[in-house]
Amino acid sequence: MSDDTPGHKGPMNGYGCSPWRRSVGGVTPIERTPLLDARTLDRETARGLPPGPRWPMAVQTAIFANHRKWLFPRLRQRYGDVFTVRLVPGGRVVVVLSRPDHIREVFAGPANVLHTGEGNTVLAAIMGENSLLILDEDDHLRMRKQLMPAFHGQALRGYQNLVAELADAATADWPVGIPFRLHDRMRALTLEVILQVVFGVTDEHRLAELRPLVGRVVRVNPVIMLGAFYPRLLRYPPWRRYIGIQTELDRILYDEIAARRDNADLAERTDVLSRLLQAGTWTDAELRDQLVTLLLAGHETTATSLAWAFHELARRPDLLRKAQAAADTGDHAYLDAIGKESLRRRPVIYQVGRRLTASYQVAGYTLPRGTTVMPAIGLVHADPEQYPDPDDFRPERFLGDHPVPPSSWIPFGGGTRRCLGAGFSLMEGTEVLRAVLCRYDVRPRRYEPEPARALNVTQVPARGCEVLVSPRR
Ligand code: HEM
Repeated sequence: MSDDTPGHKGPMNGYGCSPWRRSVGGVTPIERTPLLDARTLDRETARGLPPGPRWPMAVQTAIFANHRKWLFPRLRQRYGDVFTVRLVPGGRVVVVLSRPDHIREVFAGPANVLHTGEGNTVLAAIMGENSLLILDEDDHLRMRKQLMPAFHGQALRGYQNLVAELADAATADWPVGIPFRLHDRMRALTLEVILQVVFGVTDEHRLAELRPLVGRVVRVNPVIMLGAFYPRLLRYPPWRRYIGIQTELDRILYDEIAARRDNADLAERTDVLSRLLQAGTWTDAELRDQLVTLLLAGHETTATSLAWAFHELARRPDLLRKAQAAADTGDHAYLDAIGKESLRRRPVIYQVGRRLTASYQVAGYTLPRGTTVMPAIGLVHADPEQYPDPDDFRPERFLGDHPVPPSSWIPFGGGTRRCLGAGFSLMEGTEVLRAVLCRYDVRPRRYEPEPARALNVTQVPARGCEVLVSPRR
């Protein structure tokens, strides 16, 4: 999930206790590893890097930003399993990996050499400096350990009923016979799940206050993120408005945290926030930062993976019928396989990143300190050596006696940074598939495959996954 970015330090900006102040004010304690800069590389170091294109960095960056699904397979074909790209800002050297055994060397490598948080520091402006996503080493492990109990099997089973209820309610009144963008519906549903199951807010008045705020906070985009690099921008309307919304959301989150701490029924509550309070020792700011992290990491990703799953199913009436039968009989294994094959065929996050804090050997190359290594999830998932006929959507790959090796299926990344919400999103996916498939026949507006479009770090259906539904006979 890494969108590597250079350091940013600037003057205090006077935004109260907003994370923009905490991060832009330069209080973030992480010691940065200088990026390996392609513009100043000596010849010997450059010769030791894997091969890659010689195009201008701006060109490589522009294609990477918008068309990496097109670019990476071509570079792999031309330069082999390991190749180097050079990206602005900073002229950073990025070594892309496409083979499971090479990627394993990264996921299983030492956390003090392979930093993830460093590449995400720009997110501190929104998620806060305690966010799991921006921490590394001991701070990361400590925070992750505190969060884990709320994402284990038993906790997940505790969330399942409420997720099922929300999925049923959100899909009960879909428009019949009129095309609509299923991705938008999935976004609204996954937001509701975060509000009620993760934040634990069920009071209708509070929900009505929260919905528009979270809906706008999650619509963060690269333009808003520029404010983290150029604090002077924060005075102007788009940034000022965004910070205003975020401050309002924070006020409600801090209120909720305080109320939950005082709640006599805390031990009986089963939402994520209550479980975190039961299991760990937290400051209010730490909790706020993790809640915003879970919101931003878990909302668009899960909505997108569901939109892709329905896109694939809707175009394959044979599979749709099988999936409906599985939903009717409660065959969770088949629904789970649909979710997994969908994440294989249409990975929501195409690549992850690690920044080397010391020289490190990967794929037979000794890469210098400051290099970004990038396991390319999308390349592994589209490799015919890993998946015969990779363009075919075949849930059966994930059923039967020959399970897919864990190192070949990596939609959630891996190692100590593997997605914390992987089990949660698979459970949510199964419940949403069940709710829709029990009720509707689904067909696409157009039968041709929908292209993917880059939206921040995700690859979303370019036309929003337009479908038509009709009640099942
Ligand atoms: C289909 C849905 C999802 C996908 C595809 C996805 C994918 C990912 C990926 C690729 C990473 C980075 C892993 C790495 O660097 O090795 C990640 C990290 C993370 N995800 Fe997810 N995610 C999904 C849903 C969720 C949900 C529902 C939540 C929480 C409710 C969540 C919370 C997180 C967190 C907190 C991290 C940071 C973990 C760490 O740094 O230790 N994700 N996710």
